[in-house]
Amino acid sequence: MADKLIIFDTTLRDGEQSPGASMRKEEKIRIARQLERMKVDVIEAGFAASSHGDFDAIQTIASQVKDSVVCSLARANNKDITCAAEALKPAGHFRIHTFIATSALHMEKKLRMTPKQVYEQARLAVRFARRFTDDIEFSSEDGSRSDIDFLCRVLEVVIKEGATTINIPDTVGYAVPDGYAALIRGIRERIPNSDKAVFSVHCHNDLGMAVANSLAAVRLGGARQIECTVNGLGERAGNTALEEVVMAVKTRRDYFGLEVRIDTTQIVPTSKLVSQTTGFVVQPNKAVVGANAFAHTSGIHQDGVLKARDTYEIMRAEDVGWNANKIVLGKLSGRNAFKQRLQELRVVLDSEAELNSAFARFKELADRKAEIFDEDILSILSQEANAVLDHETYRFVSLSQHSETGERPPAKVVFAINGSETIGEAYGNGPVDATLHAIESRINSGAELILYSVNAITTGTQAQGEVTVRLSKAGRIVNGVGTDLDIVAASAKAYIAALNKLSSSSERLNPQCS
Ligand code: KIV
Ligand code: ZN
Repeated sequence: MADKLIIFDTTLRDGEQSPGASMRKEEKIRIARQLERMKVDVIEAGFAASSHGDFDAIQTIASQVKDSVVCSLARANNKDITCAAEALKPAGHFRIHTFIATSALHMEKKLRMTPKQVYEQARLAVRFARRFTDDIEFSSEDGSRSDIDFLCRVLEVVIKEGATTINIPDTVGYAVPDGYAALIRGIRERIPNSDKAVFSVHCHNDLGMAVANSLAAVRLGGARQIECTVNGLGERAGNTALEEVVMAVKTRRDYFGLEVRIDTTQIVPTSKLVSQTTGFVVQPNKAVVGANAFAHTSGIHQDGVLKARDTYEIMRAEDVGWNANKIVLGKLSGRNAFKQRLQELRVVLDSEAELNSAFARFKELADRKAEIFDEDILSILSQEANAVLDHETYRFVSLSQHSETGERPPAKVVFAINGSETIGEAYGNGPVDATLHAIESRINSGAELILYSVNAITTGTQAQGEVTVRLSKAGRIVNGVGTDLDIVAASAKAYIAALNKLSSSSERLNPQCS
């Protein structure tokens, strides 16, 4: 029997630490349920002590997710660990993930602690966490740059205290594959009780080697858990990409000889959900989940693929959840056809009311667009999830705008502020500029627009446009996403979504900055 490789997803914790990627509770719950559907082994749902919002989200995820182990991060102190345990209580089986930095640099400059104090704090934290669960993960932050003798002493004592998973992060993405693999192997060989724990890797992608480092540590170092995020989401250059490590291990089973539990057909739907929710767009040439990942445009390749698929294809698009842009529904499709397509897409809606409301949105779109693709349906569902949040400060109502070559275009936007409709009007350098100024003429948010991007959800000129807007104000960065057949309306929706996030007071603590 092949060994099992544990897939630990940290999209909702480390992924969310990326500036602008912060998610609302409802969004986190939706992603957690999709991660469960994809069969990840462990879902790191957040950092309970960071904010009330994170605590609440973890608590709800812990009460709803049954098939994956739910986990919370906690710094190595009793307060954080108690908070994590409290949030996780509704889960049958949960994990507490506690950590402290072990590199000389972090201990001296960030923690201002001696190695002896760090050793003691790590030991006591794991001992304390044992009061709540026997599934305890310990991470030595900046592990890849730590002194190996000190690291081994810390890891040996935390295993003695009951840690069952030992994670050695490459926090700053500094490691190289053979060196990182040798580090993991060396630690496993030197610690006398290493057989009592599963060894885990957690890599950041600053030098573009997160996936390579993780896989080397598995193959050559004996690690049996990889920590990763969907689309490689994460601070700076991101984390190890879940879809890449999973498909590497599946496709090259001959080399890795490992089993993963992941339902790979859920990879693309999960990728789309995460990118639509966070506004972090997936680059077209991204492995596995990029729009071009399975497009064979060169004539030679097309000819080869038509003669025998495996001449140029090492994975099948449908195995990772691409549906080859099937036209699924249209104007005449009824509620049953819509419901059945949702089932085929393995989307579960909570109630008849949600189904009815999603169907109404579908009908509205089908009146304006002849062919409805799976991607359109997934975007309707994202809008539907956002509509649940529309008790928020601002809500888009309608837009009128006029463009003429050589003229400065005007725009008029109707939107609601706390339920009362208002009209903003402005001219701009282009239709989008005019529209965003029209909104600002009523709000004066003082926010700076730091990113604006448009993508087509499907192909062709009938495709819906998906706009991402990133705003910054007083050190806070938020993303907003909007979708519409009219990209100017999509821009207004995205801008309003970002303003809503800015106006919510959800401040949270970053575990690694304190
Ligand atoms: O990168 C890192 O070191 C982390 C730890 C908190 C696990 O995210
Ligand atoms: Zn990390």
